[in-house]
Amino acid sequence: MKNPNLWLVVPAAGIGQRMKAECPKQYLKISDRFILDITLSRLLDSGPFEGCMVPLHPQDQWWSDSESSSDGRIQTCTGGKERADSVLSALHALDEQADENDWVLVHDAARPCLHPHDLSNLIDVLFEHPVGGLLAAPVADTLKSASKGRQPAVEQTVDRRYLWRALTPQMFRFGALRQALESCLENGHTVTDESSAMEFSGNMPLLVEGRADNLKITVPSDLGLAEFILSQQ
Ligand code: CTP
Ligand code: MG
Repeated sequence: MKNPNLWLVVPAAGIGQRMKAECPKQYLKISDRFILDITLSRLLDSGPFEGCMVPLHPQDQWWSDSESSSDGRIQTCTGGKERADSVLSALHALDEQADENDWVLVHDAARPCLHPHDLSNLIDVLFEHPVGGLLAAPVADTLKSASKGRQPAVEQTVDRRYLWRALTPQMFRFGALRQALESCLENGHTVTDESSAMEFSGNMPLLVEGRADNLKITVPSDLGLAEFILSQQ
């Protein structure tokens, strides 16, 4: 059987509510470039991708001003209500081009600080694996579970040895991921990442340790932090 191809999906159809900016956060600028352009160029310049699909918001007004819009390696489609809808829409848009057994890597547009070494390590570790997995970082802080109510109190301290933060990229077989996402959306399971969808279908994705500075820009203070991380890499 031929080697599987690698496809890239970068969901960019969110509106960045928590960022409270004038435009969706992927179109805020760091060093005069859209965050989305930084994310896409870093991935495409270091990963051996066969193609790339970017789901955009149906009312997106910024894409045409991006560097990426004139990059021949990138295709776009219309995203959906939740992140999982956007990813599934991208998989459907790639259906004709990708084989069931190919790999698809899904990476948040809002994570421009992904280190090329983490990307290549993820691919190397998972390439022969039947299911796939995700970049993740062990939790560093002591964790508390809290009581319900207006003023939470500590119920207990949680053993952090078995807890990881799920990052992206997340890398799964094309056909299995499409099926897992379809089944979750049909059954009303909320999934905030690809791994949860795969877990719902009974798989155990591998956790591949990645750098803790693979930040998802979420709130205003993350912008300066991302700028600092990028300047240090
Ligand atoms: N995303 C998407 N389609 C959606 C929602 C999110 O493609 N319906 C994308 C975002 O553009 C982002 C990534 O998924 O690149 C991670 O989502 P998140 O950080 O939650 O971004 P937003 O949903 O835009 O932000 P918020 O939740 O604060 O509104
Ligand atoms: Mg969101």
